Amino acid sequence: MLRARKLESGPGGAHDERVQVRAALPDDIDFVRELAGEVFSSFGDYRKLLPKWFKTAGVMTFLSESEGEHTGYVMVAFFREERALVGDVLAIAVSPAHQGRGIGRMLLQHAVTVCEQVADQSPVRAMRLSVADNNERAQKLFLSFGFKQVDGDFGHYDGGQQALHMERPMGP
Ligand SMILES: CC(C)(COP(=O)(O)OP(=O)(O)OC[C@H]1O[C@@H](n2cnc3c(N)ncnc32)[C@H](O)[C@@H]1OP(=O)(O)O)[C@@H](O)C(=O)NCCC(=O)NCCS
Repeated sequence: MLRARKLESGPGGAHDERVQVRAALPDDIDFVRELAGEVFSSFGDYRKLLPKWFKTAGVMTFLSESEGEHTGYVMVAFFREERALVGDVLAIAVSPAHQGRGIGRMLLQHAVTVCEQVADQSPVRAMRLSVADNNERAQKLFLSFGFKQVDGDFGHYDGGQQALHMERPMGP
């Protein structure tokens, strides 16, 4: 069982001591649903999908809290591909009022730390995520963590945006 480590800031990120990241609890599902409706509605109906993922065995959700207020979350799951695992960042979201303060960077760093912890026990080949072609802000964040765009056609979001896949190799 993984334990959520206390976060450190990612590369170049400002570390805010008042922001904590913890494993989500069952009651957090309402926040997951509400924030999905706020920030993912242009891509599709994630108000239903994200709570479904939240309850799916093997999907880990971590929440950020700033002074007791929920401010964002990241969801991670592992998939076996051939002889190694791939850590998939299924969703990352920060409440609009708290965006641009380094919380997204902290959440993504947490996902990386979780993948590194798993990689201590089992081979993890890479981290992966999907992002819309017009979501430059998120892409910029992912690029700064070493994610690179993967060649291929990965379809479209319900909102019509082209889906890009990005990967970050694990290991030394
Ligand atoms: C993408 C998202 C998670 C980033 O979270 P955040 O807390 O706002 O981001 P941070 O403050 O940690 O900034 C991280 C990086 O994002 C980029 N970024 C943040 N705000 C930005 C802005 N206004 N314009 C352009 N890039 C920006 C920068 O690269 C920044 O790094 P830097 O500060 O070192 O330059 C958040 O904007 C969000 O929830 N967006 C809506 C949901 C979404 O699109 N999720 C990703 C789907 S795959």
